[in-house]
Amino acid sequence: MAAVTIDGKALALDLQAALQIRVQALIQAGTRPALTVILVGADAASQVYVRNKVQGCERTGIVSAMLHYPSDVDPTIVFDRIAELNADPAIDGILVQLPLPAQFDESAILAAISPDKDVDGFHAANVGALTQGAPRFIPCTPYGVMKMLEKEKVELKGKEAVIIGRSNIVGKPMAALLLAKGATVTICHSQTRDLAFHTRRADVLVAAVGRPLMITGEMIKPGAIVIDVGINRLASGRLCGDVDFDSAKETAALITPVPGGVGPMTITMLLTNTVEAAERRSASVQAGAPH
Ligand code: GUN
Repeated sequence: MAAVTIDGKALALDLQAALQIRVQALIQAGTRPALTVILVGADAASQVYVRNKVQGCERTGIVSAMLHYPSDVDPTIVFDRIAELNADPAIDGILVQLPLPAQFDESAILAAISPDKDVDGFHAANVGALTQGAPRFIPCTPYGVMKMLEKEKVELKGKEAVIIGRSNIVGKPMAALLLAKGATVTICHSQTRDLAFHTRRADVLVAAVGRPLMITGEMIKPGAIVIDVGINRLASGRLCGDVDFDSAKETAALITPVPGGVGPMTITMLLTNTVEAAERRSASVQAGAPH
């Protein structure tokens, strides 16, 4: 039986419509949500992602600015700009698009962003809060995946969840979120010996490796929920995920497509985090706190 496809684009549009209402309420209360995105270099995929993030802000009424630096920029310039944005009371969110060029110490850049404005949820303080079960900002891609599972009323308690990929952006926070919902979580990675052994046990399989079409139908448990985080471009120019959708949909019960699955949800959760940051700012202004 062919799987049901989870329409990430439709869910993203629904959630963005609800966000527009929250943004209007904030504006009426005197707080205009604002996000600044920093892009360094000319990586083609990063440029597309950043453009989509800025367009998402425009759709929902969030003020956005994109600061674009050349790939050979002195990191001090970016650190100084982050310090200014941290101190600017009109800015709610700061996002530095990853990866950064080699002259940057990525973890130092992430540590420089105020945890209160870290709408990516990558600062160590926010990673710690998530791990301890009291998140302040949830990283956007795993947050979007959880919203999709919630929308589909997937009960995670006691389920076998297998994540392929151990990145700080997706794999590790995804594991923390699934664990918090009561799933038994396995993280597979490049050193995992028998990948198919693990994937075939998965009630919920999350693929986040960045290798086109590597998960095929015979690696999937019948009736599984398959979430494809990969966005890869084939030599033909076609976009595809880490999962071979055509074979996987014959075995899975629920599956996300690429494009139109997790991608639109990632942007939506970034907008959500920015609105949440602005709501906290608005509440602290109403309470008379210095800002
Ligand atoms: N590069 C790939 N995904 C992301 C993301 O979610 N946030 C940032 N800042 N960079 C990324």
